[in-house]
Amino acid sequence: MAIQWFPGHMNKARKDVMERLKDIDVVIEMLDARLPASSANPMLARMAKGKPRLMILNKQDLADPAITTQWLDWYRAKKQTQAIGLDAGERAPSQKLVAACRELAPNRGGLDKPLRVLICGIPNVGKSTLINSMSSRKIAKTGNMPGVTKNEQRIILDDDVELYDTPGMLWPKIEVEEGGYNLAASGAVGRNAMDEEEVSLELLKYLLQHYVPELTARYKLDDVDGLQDWQVLEMIGRKRGAMLGGGRVNIQKAAEIVLTDFRDGNTGRITLERPQEWVVWEKRAKELAAQKAAAREAMMSEKEKRKHTSRGPQD
Ligand code: G4P
Repeated sequence: MAIQWFPGHMNKARKDVMERLKDIDVVIEMLDARLPASSANPMLARMAKGKPRLMILNKQDLADPAITTQWLDWYRAKKQTQAIGLDAGERAPSQKLVAACRELAPNRGGLDKPLRVLICGIPNVGKSTLINSMSSRKIAKTGNMPGVTKNEQRIILDDDVELYDTPGMLWPKIEVEEGGYNLAASGAVGRNAMDEEEVSLELLKYLLQHYVPELTARYKLDDVDGLQDWQVLEMIGRKRGAMLGGGRVNIQKAAEIVLTDFRDGNTGRITLERPQEWVVWEKRAKELAAQKAAAREAMMSEKEKRKHTSRGPQD
C-alpha cells in the first residue's frame, strides 16, 4: 500500500517558500524525532540547497534518546548543517534556536544585517506549539508588509534575529515506503488517507524487531518470541477487550489502540528509524523508482514501434 499524501495548496506554498528563501540566511526544518528522515521534506532540501540548515528533532520526549543522538550526529556530519533535539518542555527554546542559527551564519547579525531564518515542518510536528512558546516577545503578521505573503508570520527572536513561519509545504509523493508508514503511524497523515490496520501491523513489525520489552510491558504480553505482527495485534485486541461477536477480535479497534498508544508515548520512547536503516530503505526506493521508469520507457518505445509498423512500409 502506498500512503496517500495530501498535496493541497502545494504549488502556492512552494512558490511562497521559494520567494521567501531569497533573503533567508538559515533554513530551519522541524522534524519528528521519532521519524527524522521520514518527516524531512525532500522538496525543501532541493529548494534550500546551499543555505545553512538547522534540523530540529522535535518531540524528543517521545523518541528513543540513544537513537536521537545517532540522528543528531548524522545531521551534524552534513555540510552547513546543525541539529538540536527539542521538546515542548524546553524552557528557553528561542535561546537554543538563536545560538544554533548564529553559529550557522556568523556573518549575519546586528541591526543593519539582521539574521533571517525560515522555519518549515510537516503538520503535527509541533511547529505552532514552539512558535507560540517563543512569541511572547513580538509577533507580527507580515501580510501587510510589502513583498511578503499573507498568512506568513514574522517572529522577532532577538533584536537582530527574525523568524519567518510559512504555511506548511508538503511534497507530492512519498518515495520511501517505510517513510510513508512512519508518517502515518506518527499521525501526520490524515485518517482517511491510510489503512489503520496496515499501518499498525507495520508499526508492530518494527516494535517486534527493536522494542520487545516496551511492547510486552505495555500490553502485558508473556512471550512474543517467533510471533508475527498480526498475531500480536490479535493478542493486544484480546487483552484490551476489543472483541466482536463469536469470540473474534475487532482488528480495527486493536489497530487504533496500538496507534494511539504509540502517538501518545504510552508504549515508551520509541524511534521508528535508524540512520543506517534509512540509507537502505532510500537506496531500495531509488532502485525501484529507476526500475519503474525503465519499464515505462520500454513500454513507450514498444508502443511507438507498434505505431510505425501498423502504418506499413509506405510511410
Ligand atoms: P503543528 O503546528 O506542527 O501542526 O503542531 P502543533 O504545535 O499543533 O502540535 C501537534 C501536537 O503535538 C499537539 O498535540 C501538541 O501538543 C503536540 N506537541 C507539540 N510539541 C510536542 C513535544 O515536544 N512533545 C510532545 N509529546 N508533544 C508535542 P495535540 O494532541 O494535537 O493537541 P493538544 O492536546 O496539545 O491540544
